[in-house]
Amino acid sequence: MYQSLISRRYTLGIGRVYNALTCRAQTERSFSQNAWLSKQKAKQAEEPVATERHRKSKAQKTLDEVEKEYSEFYESIYGTARWTQLHPSLKSPQRYSCLLNKYSSPEENPSIPDSMQELKLEKLPFKSLECFQVSEDIGGYSFPRPEKNETTGLLTHYLLDAGSVLATEALDIQPGEHVLDMCASPGGKSLCILQRMSGVIGGHLTSNEPSPTRRKTLSRVMAEYIPKEFNVDLRITGEEGWKFLFFGLDRYDKVLVDAPCSSDRHILHDSSEFKLWTPSRSKNLAKRQFALLQSALKVVRPGGTIVYSTCALSELENDGVIERALNKSKVPFEIVQENWPLGEKTKHGWICLPDAAHGYGPLYFAKLKKL
Ligand SMILES: C[S@@+](CC[C@H](N)C(=O)[O-])C[C@H]1O[C@@H](n2cnc3c(N)ncnc32)[C@H](O)[C@@H]1O
Repeated sequence: MYQSLISRRYTLGIGRVYNALTCRAQTERSFSQNAWLSKQKAKQAEEPVATERHRKSKAQKTLDEVEKEYSEFYESIYGTARWTQLHPSLKSPQRYSCLLNKYSSPEENPSIPDSMQELKLEKLPFKSLECFQVSEDIGGYSFPRPEKNETTGLLTHYLLDAGSVLATEALDIQPGEHVLDMCASPGGKSLCILQRMSGVIGGHLTSNEPSPTRRKTLSRVMAEYIPKEFNVDLRITGEEGWKFLFFGLDRYDKVLVDAPCSSDRHILHDSSEFKLWTPSRSKNLAKRQFALLQSALKVVRPGGTIVYSTCALSELENDGVIERALNKSKVPFEIVQENWPLGEKTKHGWICLPDAAHGYGPLYFAKLKKL
């Protein structure tokens, strides 16, 4: 009943309803991060009672001051040597890979668009997705804009971080499965999931995004890439992810929680957002992320898979959330550790960091199996 309620209220009509780091190093990082936060708290407690002027000066930290605090925070987690190479790599331009849209060609058999024939393309070693990168020899960063296939009118390719593609590979989608993408806009990972489904065999994807403006973007992306007459039951919903547990338990084969996070690379390229960074941001986000993961654990069926992912650097938002679930969750689950062709192992999952993953990332993910 609840599912039909969600569908009626939120499904948007587009035609049909379619709309190697060791464990020890990781533990040390968590400790050092907590120690850093405690030290900052103690420092604040020692400070005199904040006067209006004092508070104002705190609110108006200069970019240099935030930059210093930010670097100290992450240096305490990653160590000076790693941070010295990681920090500049985060400030370098975002690298994109190119996912071919199989639905843009009439036979679900896409070829490399003409506009890319001149590029030195390398196929990324992903299990089943047609995903390419431009060779690093020639810069590795520029792809032509997606174009419409003349027959289907659908866009030929989508540009996204290769780490994001990897997180969806971890879901190991099989045709016909029921999948929930809990935090979906703008839709890159939903598109990857749909590439693993088939217009012939069918499947079910609920692509959820609570923000109305971001949901509009998600709907547009789906309309640009997915056929109107489509044999996959694609629903776009607008719920807070933590509410899904009220709509029925054990309902999905796979759930992706690509949680809202610190988005470090993004904020490092936007000074107005970067100025708002505080060391406690990750702590607050981690609480919301944990609530989303809890909901996912409840709605996935026993034996089903959850992939929890973020584009954050902070331990608290990554392995920290999984650690908390291990300690607190009433739903039994196990962690599935696998090796992936890009990035490095963490205590509970995997992370792509741009200094060691050919410019991609940050992208953390952990794969959980409900017992
Ligand atoms: C990292 S982005 C998702 C990116 C997307 N998965 C993709 O690959 O294109 C996180 C999204 O979560 C959404 N969000 C924020 N709070 C949420 C909540 N309580 N439940 C579900 N989604 C939420 C944000 O609006 C944002 O669009």
